[in-house]
Amino acid sequence: MAILIKNGTIVTSKKSFKADILIENGKISQIGNIQLSKIKFEQEINAECFYIFPGGIDPHVHMHLPTGAGYSADNFYSGSKAALYGGTTSIIDFVTPKKGQSLTDALNLRKKEAESSIIDYSFHVSPVEWTKTTEQEINDIIEEGINSFKVYMAYKDSIGLNDNDLFKVMKAVSKAGGMLTVHAELGDKIEDLRDSFVKEGKTEPKYHPLSRPTEMEAGAVKKAIELAEKANCPIYIVHVSAEKSLKHIQAAQQKGQKVYAESCPHYLLLDDSKYNGDFEQTAPFVMSPPLRKKEDNEALWKAVTDNVIQTIGTDHCPFTLEQKKKGQADFRKIANGAGGVEHRLALLYTYGVIQNKFSINKFVDLISTKPAKIFGLYPQKGEIAVGSDADLVIWNPYKKSIISSKTHYQNCDINIFEGIHTTGIAEYIIRNGELIIEKMKLINETKGHFLKRHI
Ligand code: URP
Ligand code: ZN
Repeated sequence: MAILIKNGTIVTSKKSFKADILIENGKISQIGNIQLSKIKFEQEINAECFYIFPGGIDPHVHMHLPTGAGYSADNFYSGSKAALYGGTTSIIDFVTPKKGQSLTDALNLRKKEAESSIIDYSFHVSPVEWTKTTEQEINDIIEEGINSFKVYMAYKDSIGLNDNDLFKVMKAVSKAGGMLTVHAELGDKIEDLRDSFVKEGKTEPKYHPLSRPTEMEAGAVKKAIELAEKANCPIYIVHVSAEKSLKHIQAAQQKGQKVYAESCPHYLLLDDSKYNGDFEQTAPFVMSPPLRKKEDNEALWKAVTDNVIQTIGTDHCPFTLEQKKKGQADFRKIANGAGGVEHRLALLYTYGVIQNKFSINKFVDLISTKPAKIFGLYPQKGEIAVGSDADLVIWNPYKKSIISSKTHYQNCDINIFEGIHTTGIAEYIIRNGELIIEKMKLINETKGHFLKRHI
């Protein structure tokens, strides 16, 4: 099927220009002034007045994540649908094995769960322990087309690694030529703080952020950077939330160490005033790391413009109010996480581009090109060029919306961005050469593919 997009303004991470795009066999086949009479095509889209972005790539989502409070509320079908409506055409989720299970076995099971996705997907794979086979398992995963791993310095009671094992994983990933993504929070100290709050009868959601202060994140970031330098391992710090973390990241980057950083829309736009109120008002904001101060929001925006932060993911991990209520008597049991995969582009377009924090080209870099480059998908994804996958978002920059759980596509009865105004929406989406969203409506639910990534 050939599709012709006429008269749009193409926006890449480097430049913006008016041109037509021809799509054939799932790929971009021509860009320029394409003459209608010479070309046979099945569909034509007039993109006059619209921008055309490469499809969004969300490098951090947790669909169907098993937790003590049940699975996260979006499975791969509902979550990918919400992502699509928001302009995201590829996601990188996670494989978290059970202790004793091999990384490859866990990957194969996760691939089955992801088959219902209607966008393309890959995974970061988590070694949750160090055994005599872990190094070989890491090599096996790279052979499967996955070049990134994830370690947790938090969650010491379940999937978190101690420093010795973290260092061994770093050395193995480095040797294999991979990238290590790191959830940086000092897990042991956090567990102690959580327990002592509960012992003192301090059980409400507001004690969640108090048990995970910014020093716990910054201290873990510093430690991860030091270990990675010794192991010569490239690292990517996920969901950076605190100003205190940024100085360590920036110093390492200035020395030439391969340290990348991701933040999320909620750390840019929301702050810890959300923890004032009753259980139902505050529990939705229980996530790790927690929301910080307004000064942290400002420092993160600056870090984005200064290129200290390279990507914006969502850490999409929604839970219903019912699931949050599992922790009504003890904040440690509140389902940990929040959704956002649907709103990443609209929030960054509204509060980044329209508010002149950064250019529209930088926006494309953050939401698509950099994730593709860092995680081995470029230039198949993350670019508008002849030969790249035809994953395109035709963006109506005028349409205004108000985020609400009443109207969102995420499978959840709460939305942490409730009431926030946005400008801009995906008017059309082409994914792998097929028209999927037409005039803001999903018209085609073709399944996505597992993406093999390169080093
Ligand atoms: O609160 C969060 N972020 N839940 C999802 C798991 C993680 O830490 O990324
Ligand atoms: Zn995390």
